[in-house]
Amino acid sequence: MKEKIEALLNEVRSLTASSADEVEQMRIKYLSKKGEISQLFNDFKNVAGDEKRIVGQMLNELKNVTQQRLSEMKEAFENQVSAENMVDMSRSESPIEFGTRHPLSIVKNEIIDIFSRLGFTVAEGPEIEDDWHVFGALNFPPEHPARDMQDTFFIEKNPDILLRTHTSSVQSHVITTQKPPIRVLCPGRVYRNEAISYRAHCFFHQVEGLYIDKNVSFADLKQALLYFAKEMFGEGTQIRLRPSYFPFTEPSAEMDISCDLCGGKGCAFCKHTGWVEILGCGMVDPAVLEACGIDSKVYSGYAFGMGVERIANLKFRCKDLRMFSENDLRFLKQFDSAL
Ligand code: DAH
Repeated sequence: MKEKIEALLNEVRSLTASSADEVEQMRIKYLSKKGEISQLFNDFKNVAGDEKRIVGQMLNELKNVTQQRLSEMKEAFENQVSAENMVDMSRSESPIEFGTRHPLSIVKNEIIDIFSRLGFTVAEGPEIEDDWHVFGALNFPPEHPARDMQDTFFIEKNPDILLRTHTSSVQSHVITTQKPPIRVLCPGRVYRNEAISYRAHCFFHQVEGLYIDKNVSFADLKQALLYFAKEMFGEGTQIRLRPSYFPFTEPSAEMDISCDLCGGKGCAFCKHTGWVEILGCGMVDPAVLEACGIDSKVYSGYAFGMGVERIANLKFRCKDLRMFSENDLRFLKQFDSAL
C-alpha cells in the first residue's frame, strides 16, 4: 500500500492538462467515489494496526496534494482569456487624433471669461439682419456710408435684409427685449464687403459689450476696460482712450493698449507709437436707448466692441488674417495650449 501511495503521489505531482475538461477527468480518476484515491481510503481498514498511523498520514497527504494540484490547473484555465476577447498587443496605436480648439475660439472664450468675472453674460443674435437692428436703432442716419453696397452685403431681392456688419446689432435686440440692468457680451461673426487680403477679410468676428443701469459712468467703462486689458495682455499693460466717433455712442473713444513687443518705446509693430488700437467704445447714445424703449433720463450705459482676430493677432502674432479661415491643420494645431 505504501508503494502505491508513493507512486500515485509522484504521478499527481507531475500532472499536466491541456484543457479544463481534462482536469475534470483527472478529478474523476483520482477523487470521485470510485476514484483511485478513494479506493485506497476504502482499503485503509485492512492496514495492520501498527502501520495505520503512518499510512493514514500518507493517504491524507496524497489527497491534499491531488486536490491542490487539480485546483491549480483548473484556475489556470479559468483565468485564460478566450481568443475572441483577447487584446491584440501587436496592433498599431489608435489612429484617432484629438482635435484642438480654434485660435479664435480660444481668444473669444478668454474674452468672455474675463468679462464674466465682472458679471457679464452672453447674448447672441442673428447674422442675417434687417436694416433697423444693424443701423436704424443704432442711430445711423439714412445716408450713412455703412449702408452703402460697397461696405455691406445686402440681399438682392430685399434691400432691407443684410448680413450684419457688426455685433452691435445684438444690442438693439437686447435693449428692446430686456429691462435694465443689462450686462451682456455679444460674440459672433460679422460680414463686410471688403477685398480679401492678409489684413482684411469679408467676414470676421467681434465681441460686443453692453452695460445699462442707473448711474453708469464713463469711469465705469474705463475701469472695466483696464481690467480686461490687464487680464488679457498682462498686469503691466496700460490703456489709452482717444476721442472718436460712432453713431451709437456719445462720447465715443478708441482704446489702445501699450505695445508689449517694445514695452511702449516704439517699434515696427506699433508703427513706432508705442500703442496698439484694440477696440471702440463709448457711452450709449440716449437716442439709442429711446429708440429701443428705455428712458434715457433714468438709465445710462456703456458699450464697447472689439475684433476677435485683432486680439488673436496681438496674442499670437499671426501675420496673415486669412490663416484663421483656411483650416490648415498645421496652423490650427499650434494654439491648443497657447493660453
Ligand atoms: N461696432 C463697431 C465696429 O464694428 C465697434 C464698436 C465701437 C462697438 C464702439 C461699440 C462701441 O459698442 O461703443 O467697428
